[in-house]
Amino acid sequence: MNAQSLPKLFDFEKMVQKNVNGNGMTGMDILSVDQFDREHLAYIFSRAHEMRELVERVGACDLLKGYILACLFYEPSTRTSASFIAAMERLGGSVIPITQGVQFSSVSKGESLPDTIRTLEQYSDVIVLRHPEIGSAKLAADYAAVPVINAGDGAGEHPTQALLDLFTIQEELGHLEGLKIAMVGDLRYGRTVHSLTRLLMQYEDVSLRFVSPDTLRLPMTLMNEVIDRGVKVRETPDVADVIENADVLYVTRIQKERFTDPKQYEEVKDCFEITPELMARAKEKMVVMHPLPRVGEIHYRVDDDPRAAYFRQVKNGMYVRMALLAAVLGKA
Ligand code: CP
Repeated sequence: MNAQSLPKLFDFEKMVQKNVNGNGMTGMDILSVDQFDREHLAYIFSRAHEMRELVERVGACDLLKGYILACLFYEPSTRTSASFIAAMERLGGSVIPITQGVQFSSVSKGESLPDTIRTLEQYSDVIVLRHPEIGSAKLAADYAAVPVINAGDGAGEHPTQALLDLFTIQEELGHLEGLKIAMVGDLRYGRTVHSLTRLLMQYEDVSLRFVSPDTLRLPMTLMNEVIDRGVKVRETPDVADVIENADVLYVTRIQKERFTDPKQYEEVKDCFEITPELMARAKEKMVVMHPLPRVGEIHYRVDDDPRAAYFRQVKNGMYVRMALLAAVLGKA
């Protein structure tokens, strides 16, 4: 069965005519979650749902046949790079994968980011970029004529991760309003926390609990934004303070690579571990999420708990990225 013979849900021709420029995403760079209002989010999640059904029913289609994605990663990645590649291939497109480390590209000879971007745009229709410096995705977008998607810029943002995180919360709990969400771990350097916090602030009656050691608290500028938006907020160093009331426990890794002082990392590296014993105190209907990779923050014995959503979250990443690629290429 191909896309043409699918029932109305997958009437891509109609989706194209209805939404090109109508959704405001055609040709758009995706640099920050600040670009998305609730209408955008609902639109993306609806398309992601369709992508899930498409994959579950037929595996792949030809929607992006003839389109090429350049996947350019200056930092290691498993999920973001693999899910973008899978997303593009399931939509019938192709990929230039520079994901095994830019040491194998001309970056190792000293080529600048703008020159690399201006080269890749000659071959591709969309560029996904991960880079260690905050603002790098914006710089790339300034030079590129094709859409640039930020796959993480240092400790800055990781907007597609935040979109898939929010999609996962909606999928798991059925709604986004009125939730108590505890963010646990490295809130200072954890870019996924920064991006997800900004998205969650858009929903009514959301309460945020920030759980971290003192040295890894949420940056003050973001905390002020949260407070200015009137979001109910609480900070604590102890996950036991929040586990009983949380609807979502969003756990993150301590970002070793962002520390300038290794001693500081050693002091905090083992500060949290979610265990079955801790989970016994949590609500029956709650979700544990993690952007992954984990390095000890969630015990492996938690994995069989039905509330452990982190691998479902991984799969949702592919559906959301399929929706985003189709949207920026004017095909959804
Ligand atoms: N969540 C995430 O960004 O994972 P990777 O670093 O493996 O891409």
